[in-house]
Amino acid sequence: MKYKHILILTFIVSGIVAMTYLTNEDTDRDSVANKKIDSLLNLMTLEEKIGQLNQYSIGPELTGPGAKEGNQQIRYEQLKSGQVGSVLNLLGAEQAYETQKFVVENTRLGIPLIFAFDVVHGYKTMFPLPLAESSSWDLDLMERTAAAAAKEAASAGIQWTFAPMVDISRDARWGRVMEGAGEDAYLGSEIAIARINGFQGNDLSDINTIAACAKHFAGYGFVESGKDYNNVYLGKHQLLNTILPPFKAAADANVATFMNAFNDIDGIPSTANDYLLRELLKGEWNYDGVVVSDWNSIGEIVTHGVAADKYEAAVMALNAGSDIDMEGTAYIDNLKKAVENGDVKEKDIDDAVRRVLKLKYDLGLFDDPYKYFDSKREEKTLFNKEHRKLAHEAALKSIVLLKNENNLLPIKEKELSIGLIGPLMKDKDSPLGNWRGAADKGTAVSLYEGIVKSFPDANIDYAEGVKLSIGPNNFFNKTVIEEEDRSGFAKAIQVAKNSDIVIVAMGETAYMSGEGRSRSTLDLPGLQPELLKELKKVNDNIILVLMNGRPLAISWEDENIPAIVEAWHLGHEAGNAIADVLTGKFNPSGKLTMTFPRSVGQVPIYYDYKNTGRPSSGPDQVFYTHHNDIDPSPLYPFGYGLSYSKYEYSNPVISKDKIGMNDTLQIKVMVKNTSSIDGEEIVQLYTRDITGSITRPVKQLKGYKKVAIKAGESKEINFELTTEDLAFYTRDFDYEAEPGEFQVMTGPNSSELKSAKFKLIPNETDNL
Ligand code: NOJ
Repeated sequence: MKYKHILILTFIVSGIVAMTYLTNEDTDRDSVANKKIDSLLNLMTLEEKIGQLNQYSIGPELTGPGAKEGNQQIRYEQLKSGQVGSVLNLLGAEQAYETQKFVVENTRLGIPLIFAFDVVHGYKTMFPLPLAESSSWDLDLMERTAAAAAKEAASAGIQWTFAPMVDISRDARWGRVMEGAGEDAYLGSEIAIARINGFQGNDLSDINTIAACAKHFAGYGFVESGKDYNNVYLGKHQLLNTILPPFKAAADANVATFMNAFNDIDGIPSTANDYLLRELLKGEWNYDGVVVSDWNSIGEIVTHGVAADKYEAAVMALNAGSDIDMEGTAYIDNLKKAVENGDVKEKDIDDAVRRVLKLKYDLGLFDDPYKYFDSKREEKTLFNKEHRKLAHEAALKSIVLLKNENNLLPIKEKELSIGLIGPLMKDKDSPLGNWRGAADKGTAVSLYEGIVKSFPDANIDYAEGVKLSIGPNNFFNKTVIEEEDRSGFAKAIQVAKNSDIVIVAMGETAYMSGEGRSRSTLDLPGLQPELLKELKKVNDNIILVLMNGRPLAISWEDENIPAIVEAWHLGHEAGNAIADVLTGKFNPSGKLTMTFPRSVGQVPIYYDYKNTGRPSSGPDQVFYTHHNDIDPSPLYPFGYGLSYSKYEYSNPVISKDKIGMNDTLQIKVMVKNTSSIDGEEIVQLYTRDITGSITRPVKQLKGYKKVAIKAGESKEINFELTTEDLAFYTRDFDYEAEPGEFQVMTGPNSSELKSAKFKLIPNETDNL
């Protein structure tokens, strides 16, 4: 058996090695790879094929409900007999090497495994949460942090990350908003591409790159009432116009894999959704990568109540187009029988297997199954200086200044007495955030450390004030918020009384957002608001530094606290970066990619809402779209963020007031930095399609430029619009721009816009 295996492996490897000499052209590479894969498929038994579609979590890491007791022996036997194609959560080059060797040497065909892991915002070095980093609007930065995360993960034996999450979400109650790029389909698509390019580079076989995964396909960000895993109800226009654009962008950017979503859409579990997978993704979009289920999402088709048992679930998922079964055992236990019964066609299994083998080929695993496993490289790469520097840059650019009354910030004098208060002030763990890869617990720079370093001449006093949570703070345990203990209030109030200024660090711990961490309120959790109110009574000079994984409803804080800095969970360099903003060493430039509500009752709240038949028309009106008890505007709108510089915007000037279907409209806006501080500004462009065949959003982001503008300088910012930018899925589901009147708007955020109007006119031939 062993000789046979070596012979076959040699055949495969030498064939592939020889093939790389043939040509460097992608198409040739692909066609040679496909031939190779065909011949490998011919050698495979049905069991071996199904094995390639079976994925297990092995090793100490777990990122979902644990594997059932008693099946470890079965899994071991399956690994040994070629019935496992990929694994997740096994970390470290040495461990991965041993496992790979076991599989390559023991299985009949020696087909290597792929090692996967959720590398979401870093592997060992933590960068800001994806939602935080999206506030930089800096695509180059996001590509570089993804590339650094890939390099670290690849050195530790990983070839595949389950990221980026490209789910659009407008509901801050949903815990997973921390993993995404916010509420907007246009920006979300741009960021998806940047992150995919960062993870994958130009060549998946490069030992510094890993395969990416666009997830969760689809609609997961629209779970009802923001409850994780909940049901989703969506119209097809909303699906096509709002939710799918980042997925389409990901497919066009050659993302290696897609992941199913846990939710159903209008009654159909995404994992069994043949419209989404077969018709759209693998059909219309011609996507030839791999679709992996989410953690047991094939098994959960039974729990959804759509399949009677796992057999039926496996049949539905495979027929719908889900290629790999993650942690479900539905495929491995049932697909052979399903083929024998004629419920699944072997050709559909072959198609799924071909995709998996192609990914292995693209990763270079057939060339050398051990190429990613080099402990020395791992040691040199993880948490290196260069990555720490990049983490600092990313943290700086992710910070959003929400309020700065009377220019309280930056802190000008250095010889002050500064009171440092709050449960997150000395916290070295929460800034690492949820989905923290392989980061070591408690290794971030705390805000306390950052401030002490930046203010060597200040008189610093500290009080925790209040605890934020009790019990274990980790991925698996439910976070219990502390609501009883006020014993720290007195000391905190004393510190605030004795200080010139008070910096308060409040928000959420790492595990108050993320998977399974939905909330029903969006206030600062626990006793924090109460303590803040007490502090305000004794000191007006409060700077509130927020650390959190989602938009918060902080109306009282906005009314009463003069300076508010949104510092998210910024990763390893959090404390240093926040201190740089507080001292003015760095002028903040981040802008929100998710609307902050005034109250949780406004959620879902987002900037590109539809007008309705009765748009809100003022506080005294009754029969209009609004809540009776609250200002209908958001607390902080999408695109909002302040700077230490001040900017003035001109009206937009457009090149024509009428354009044809093949024309381009030029838009010009002057932005002046009227302050004495150099800054960077994110200049935004929106359009409104006044009348459409379906109702249209009141505005939609269509472009932006992040520009450095020196103190006193005016800069002309230029944009272009074509009909492609105005296209959408119309009433008849055609993707096109509809002639008619449009508004074009420019400004510093989605609420403060100046506008001009133009008409899109049909080509004369269109009327013939
Ligand atoms: C479940 C999550 O929904 C998904 O995003 C993740 O990639 C898998 N678990 C694997 O850890």
